Amino acid sequence: MAQHDSEHDIAAGSELDTVAERTVSAGTAVAVPSGAFENPGSPPDRIRATDLDPKKEKTAERRVGGLFLFSIAASIFAIVAYIIFPIVPGDLSSVRLNNLFLGLGISLALISIGLGSIYWAKNLMKDGEWEEHRHPTRGREETREAAAEVFRLGNEESGFGRRALIRRSLIGALVVSPLPAVVMFRDLAPAADPVALLKSTVWDKNVRLMRDPSNTPIKASDVTLGSVFHVIPETLANSEHYIEDKAKAAVLLMRLKPEDLHVSADRADWNYQGIVAYSKICTHVGCPVALAEQHTHHLLCPCHQSQFDISHEAKVIFGPAKRPLPQLPITVDSQGYLVARSDFHEPVGPSFWERS
Ligand code: FES
Repeated sequence: MAQHDSEHDIAAGSELDTVAERTVSAGTAVAVPSGAFENPGSPPDRIRATDLDPKKEKTAERRVGGLFLFSIAASIFAIVAYIIFPIVPGDLSSVRLNNLFLGLGISLALISIGLGSIYWAKNLMKDGEWEEHRHPTRGREETREAAAEVFRLGNEESGFGRRALIRRSLIGALVVSPLPAVVMFRDLAPAADPVALLKSTVWDKNVRLMRDPSNTPIKASDVTLGSVFHVIPETLANSEHYIEDKAKAAVLLMRLKPEDLHVSADRADWNYQGIVAYSKICTHVGCPVALAEQHTHHLLCPCHQSQFDISHEAKVIFGPAKRPLPQLPITVDSQGYLVARSDFHEPVGPSFWERS
């Protein structure tokens, strides 16, 4: 960028009929419409106190540095506040306190950087109006040199290289200001290992199968041929993460004639007299598989029409799902209520990288 006074930069030249071509002092031709207005020129430079008095200049520099340092302190305050005032689940006042102090810290940090930059520009950077004539875009050597000149002038005029206090405090403020966000990103990840969370459910040995949503236990004798029960584990009621746990543990319970069931040897005792339990979470992308065809023993997922054959260990017979529905091994307890023999033997729901 170069400062141009239009009266000197654009030399009066011969006018063409519609467009006059004039030559700027750098030797570059610019097209000027013949009917262009007279360039009124730029207003004179405004002389500021900091331009005249080195003491005031130094004071202004300290103020800018002070604002950037204050920004650093505010960012650190936000981090400390986030730790000191954690969000306690179920406690609304903790959410309010956390948001209040975190927001205060981040706001002050960003506002201080903004105020410091404005103060710096208004009082210390070179003042004045600047013109830059428009030229065709090209990547020639002169252009690159001009770009380098812009940076050199910018550095010289802003004093970025010279004013160590401002430079360092600004760099410090910019480096520290994203830290509150980095600390908050931690909350995006679950506290426990997410892969382990996906691989297990709240089902366990001797956990009763309960009707959903009445939460009443089910006797084997209640499950008549062709009936379908939506089932949740008895221990779900005590879960701290009810929704998340239910989303993984939901089960469909059905009774088939034992002779209709085709089970592999290692699953021979996973059903109870023809009563079988399968995960309700589709292995495609996790919709609830809730449509049962009584006569064909098929389960249908309404999302993308995957079908699973209950009589053959819920293998996929149609649709985009790639895996059978996981089976929950069941039996009955001493009172005749249906209970799980264990958790599922494989992760429920859709595929994920670390599934196997
Ligand atoms: S989620 Fe079940 S078929 Fe797509």
